Amino acid sequence: MRNALRETLCKSITQTKSASQSGPSVISRKEQMAAFGSVFMPEMAMAQFDGNAWGPSAIVPANSISLHPGAHVLHYASTCFEGLKAFRHEDGTIAIFRMDKNIARMLQSSELLSLPKFEPALLSQMIVDAVRHFAADVPTPPGSMYIRPTHIGTEPAIGKAATPTLTSMLYVLLSPVGDYFAGGSRALRLLLEDNARCAPHMGMIKSGGNYASALQPTMQAKAKHQADQVLFCPHGDVQETGAANFLLIDGNEIITKALDASFLHGVTRDSILTLARDLGMTVSERDLTVDELLERAAKPGTEAALSGTAAVLAPVGTLIHRGTEFKVGSGEPGPTTARLRQALNDIQWGKAEDKHGWLTKI
Ligand SMILES: Cc1ncc(COP(=O)(O)O)c(C=O)c1O
Repeated sequence: MRNALRETLCKSITQTKSASQSGPSVISRKEQMAAFGSVFMPEMAMAQFDGNAWGPSAIVPANSISLHPGAHVLHYASTCFEGLKAFRHEDGTIAIFRMDKNIARMLQSSELLSLPKFEPALLSQMIVDAVRHFAADVPTPPGSMYIRPTHIGTEPAIGKAATPTLTSMLYVLLSPVGDYFAGGSRALRLLLEDNARCAPHMGMIKSGGNYASALQPTMQAKAKHQADQVLFCPHGDVQETGAANFLLIDGNEIITKALDASFLHGVTRDSILTLARDLGMTVSERDLTVDELLERAAKPGTEAALSGTAAVLAPVGTLIHRGTEFKVGSGEPGPTTARLRQALNDIQWGKAEDKHGWLTKI
């Protein structure tokens, strides 16, 4: 999959390059071969909070920031981020998908981490400014421009383990990406893990520490079980993986955990559930136990999928639980997953009506 991903990223960035000969950036051969999220536009939008007020946002070089080694973020992890995408439509316009929802989640993360507040309009302006600046570099579908707003506590204060940072920095990085599933989506293998991904009250915060805490179990699952991801199921409660939400599709019903503080409220999850309702499916947001999951997975038509900005909707074929492998339905990518994924991509790519007002055209 990695090679296929590289090829498509290479292809879509090459297309981008030729579409932007007059644009400000030059994408090298080495960058064309890079993996998801490792190619960056050379500039970003940035604004700083000085303890009293936010300064103006500006487009600045994206290769470095100046930070005191005692900065709050480096010691006490006062950091959160977002991930959203801008798409190039056939008529040449650029559309950002569900920007408002991502900004709302970033505000919530900032508040729960006691980072300085900001107006949603500040971040939306920064996102729009950055994407406009590199509009010529937004790849054609299935590629897109991945947008990474980031908020960090900058106050040099190592005595503030239990006190919020006074100052902070907000910046918006851009990274052109290819199709995560170039060459056809393969059904994923998930290891069901009894432990939680992170502390229960931190799950709905998109913060670096949560990813750090999921890293060891995920690496072990890969090494020991050739699993693609860990599905965290503390006390038998099916929650999410390290970077995506989990959906079970049983006939006309789609089942996923109801929103609570323990896991990330995915924008893709919300979008897929909305589209499923539009298609006449029954959406059940409720607790799902590992026992029920394995029982339903055994039925021939059952499907499971992971939803997230990067992967969109990725089919799950195998669940590994306490050393035993269980197929989900046929174990292969299923038709409902493909249909929902297509319905979402069609809106993102401007091929279907944006009935829910999810696109911000710039
Ligand atoms: C832990 C976790 N859960 C769920 C998601 C899916 O969220 P979204 O659909 O907003 O990308 C992500 C993706 O960023 C994630 O990191």
